[in-house]
Parts: sequence; structure tokens; C-alpha cells
Amino acid sequence: MRTITNVREMQKIALQLKREGKTIGFVPTMGYLHDGHLSLLKAARKENDVTVLSIFVNPLQFGPKEDLATYPKDFERDSQLAENEGNDFIFYPSADEMYPDSLSVTAKIHDRTDVLCGKCRPGHFDGVATVLIKLFNIVQPDKVYFGMKDAQQVAVVDGLVKDFNIPVEIVPVTTVREQDGLAKSSRNINLLPAERLQAPSLHQSLKIAESMVSGGETNPQIVIAKMMDHIKKNTSGVIDYIEILSYPELKQPNLLEGNIIIALAVQFSKARLIDNMIIKLK
Ligand code: PAJ
Repeated sequence: MRTITNVREMQKIALQLKREGKTIGFVPTMGYLHDGHLSLLKAARKENDVTVLSIFVNPLQFGPKEDLATYPKDFERDSQLAENEGNDFIFYPSADEMYPDSLSVTAKIHDRTDVLCGKCRPGHFDGVATVLIKLFNIVQPDKVYFGMKDAQQVAVVDGLVKDFNIPVEIVPVTTVREQDGLAKSSRNINLLPAERLQAPSLHQSLKIAESMVSGGETNPQIVIAKMMDHIKKNTSGVIDYIEILSYPELKQPNLLEGNIIIALAVQFSKARLIDNMIIKLK
């Protein structure tokens, strides 16, 4: 496995691989790898000749009051984990390498950002889209792997790739969870011990919602109220949002039908956790 920190070098390698007819599977991350990231890497390894993992904590997607400065990092450990998965290249640029000058062009997402994390993190998905356009041009991937834990990100990136005719295939991968149901996240280490014990209630609330809607409940407000109740009773976290929307359009349904996403964000003392479930209704 090779680690590349230079943009031009990574791009040169990628273009050469393409000339040789090799397919490139790409897993963009912000590092501090866990089994969720590794499941993306495993899928990429299976389906491509060459795999590239990027580790870059992208300042453009963090708001002024968010956890950019404290975002966890451990490159040595990440590198070992990626090597164990048979990964070929880690692209690990500095912020100066990615953004040497202030950008004269950035992406602006117009659709699907007035809900869920887009609503409480203004500019977040613009930052995600901007870095991904750069990363796609640098890494030249055929397939790019994204986790459904960030389902809104998958929907937004789908729109980006379609609208800009970017020749990559977006591959969504199922959320990987701890034994107790908590979705794996780099941010879980920032939970206090008592909060860690409470955190499975988020997934439990999604399961409650799932059994309500599959049992025939069609009123989203009734489902949301039940979820709120469960989270408030069982955690000290503050609910940022609980929403039920159509997926992947992310529109507010009056009645629950078709493909829906039930999604939530809860702020604990030092960690904001998100989770979701997608359900296919008739
Ligand atoms: P990051 O939060 O590091 O996540 C990298 C990828 O891992 C994302 O596609 C995310 O959905 C996926 N992932 C995280 N937790 C997961 C889990 N429990 N199961 C399955 N997949 C999981 O998402 C980002 O970084 C950034 O926004 C990025 C796309 C790299 C752009 O900066």
C-alpha cells in the first residue's frame, strides 16, 4: 500500500492506471476508521482492480461552531486497518495541499438541503460537494462507495453526479452497527460513558417507527411523536430533528407511502449523532 500526500502525484497515478485499463474503486473518508468505513473498503476491493481510500478532514463542510478542531485523528492506525483490507493507495493530503488558495468556484446545492442535516448545518453539503468534485478529479474513480448512515449525503451526491454528468457510479453501502444497534461513527468516542449506554435508544426509536409504519400507521406525526417520547425518556441528548421524508427525493409526505426515510439527529454533550432507516412501503 502506498500513501500519497500530493495532489498532482495522486492524479498522475490515477490517470496512468486508467490508461492501463484498470478500474478504480474510491472510498472518501475523514479518517479515524471504523468497521463502517472498512465495509466500504471491502466492497471497493471486491469490485475494482485498484482501491483508493482518501483521508481528509474537509474544513469546508464544518460550520464555525462545529467539531473541526477536535475531529479525531489517528493516521497510523487508519493506515494499518486499510492495509489489512488489501487497500492499494491512501490519499492523505493536507488542507494546504487541497486548498492552497481561496477557491474562486465552489458548489452550491439547491435541492434536498432544506431538510435533515442540511437545515441545521447550513453550507455543509456545499462543502461536501466541493471537496468531492476535487477528489473525483484527482482520483478518477469508476465507482465511489458511500455509507447509507449518511443517507442525505448519498442523495445529494447522486444529484451532483447526475447534474454535472460526472462519469462515476455511486455505490450505497448498508449502515454497520455495534452489537447494541448504535450506528458506528468516528464521533462515538466523544460520548460520555453514560451517554454511550443511552445511545442505542436512537436505533431503538427507529425500530419502533418501523414496526408502526409496517403495522399500517400512515400519519408521520404520530410516528415522530412516539420516537421523540422514546428518546426523551431514555437519553439526556437534545433532539435536533426527527423527520420522515420520501427517499431519495427528501420531500415531506402527507401520508406514508412508497420509499421513505425516517431520520434523526441527537446532540449529546460532545457528540452529535445521526441515524436513519429506509423503508419500502406499498
Ligand atoms: P466520514 O464521516 O469519514 O464517512 C466516510 C464514509 O463512511 C461515508 O460514506 C459514510 O456514510 C460512511 N460511514 C460512516 N459510518 C458508517 C457506518 N456505520 N456504516 C457504513 N458506512 C458508514 O462522510 C464523510 O466522511 C465526508 O462527508 C466525505 C464524504 C469524506 C467528504 O468529506
